[in-house]
Amino acid sequence: MKSIKEANINNKRVILRCDLNVTIKDGTIIDDAKIIKSLNTINYLLEGNNSIIILSHLGKVKSNEDFDKNTLYPVYLRLRELLNTNVYFSKDNTGEELKHEINKLKAKDVILLENTRYLDYPDKLESNCDDSLSKYWASLGEVFVNDAFGTSHRKHASNYGIKKYLDSYYGLLIDEEITKLNELINEPTKPFTVIMGGAKVDDKLELIDSLLKKCDNLIVGGGIANTFLEAMGYNIGKSLSNSGFINEIKEIYNKYKNKIIIPSDFFVDNNGNREYRTINDINDEDIIYDIGQESLKKIEETIKNTKTVFLNGTVGLYEKEIYKTGTVSLLKLLKESDSKVFVGGGDAVSSVNKLGFQNDFYFKSTGGGATLEYIINGYAPALKD
Ligand code: 3PG
Repeated sequence: MKSIKEANINNKRVILRCDLNVTIKDGTIIDDAKIIKSLNTINYLLEGNNSIIILSHLGKVKSNEDFDKNTLYPVYLRLRELLNTNVYFSKDNTGEELKHEINKLKAKDVILLENTRYLDYPDKLESNCDDSLSKYWASLGEVFVNDAFGTSHRKHASNYGIKKYLDSYYGLLIDEEITKLNELINEPTKPFTVIMGGAKVDDKLELIDSLLKKCDNLIVGGGIANTFLEAMGYNIGKSLSNSGFINEIKEIYNKYKNKIIIPSDFFVDNNGNREYRTINDINDEDIIYDIGQESLKKIEETIKNTKTVFLNGTVGLYEKEIYKTGTVSLLKLLKESDSKVFVGGGDAVSSVNKLGFQNDFYFKSTGGGATLEYIINGYAPALKD
């Protein structure tokens, strides 16, 4: 697929697939970053006098109860505030009536259709890439533009199936994502350090393996660090760990020992109290929730000698005030360093935004799973011709 920068899309009816999957609580959008990021392509297409039909998913729709809580209506209201043109909302996303409405659109009109995943209940038509649905959505426009990087690892009707029926391009958000991620994967300025945290190891094993081949240092935190500690024979008390993957982690550790940096002191919860521990004195009752000064010192030494960082996860339970110190200190170190910092993966991006570092890094990916899969495979299925 090519970028819209290489096409001449003017006076057309464009189907634009965005990732407007934002967090909404009681009808209020908590973080509109994905909407803001989507504006570039929308405005670019509006400048070409196109009318735009926007498709997006929101959450997952697996039962009747999921319909109301996953409506895109609040996103429509935000888009209407942000765009300087007529913006409409259609509660239908299929059917003859919708076709009729769309035929009435004028140049520079924008219409957002209701959540594509409404078609997932009961028959999973969107997620199973139903061909009739793909064909129907394609029939609404003349050109297809995919700007939904966050779902580019999925083969759904609205981002993958539809391509078969229309001239297809990717938008400016995706253009930036793949330019920056390619830079990270293919030509990181060395030394290159990866910081990986988060609860689970199992869905990150492939990523860890692929990154260890390319990086000079891997700093681990969170549940991943606990699993490494367990694999090395340390007592981790009641801390979260993926014991089922101990052998895989042992193998990785033995192969890349000299690159892997594991925390050596912690703050733990011991029966409701926050207590300090070194690596050798963790009790059976302890739950590790943050790293300590000694670990941060080691991280600081590494970051000082680093030119590129990929931040994927946190080093503690940053959502809790008393356990956010390690993650905040790490983000400060990164902000003050001369390294190019790439942030990717849902948790890492949320921590950066929530802890006030949203404008401090070289690149922040809009993808979660999509970013990680892009880094592993070097391509995204929904962007292939
Ligand atoms: C995301 O938030 O990562 C994207 O919108 C993809 O969402 P999904 O994992 O529900 O497909």
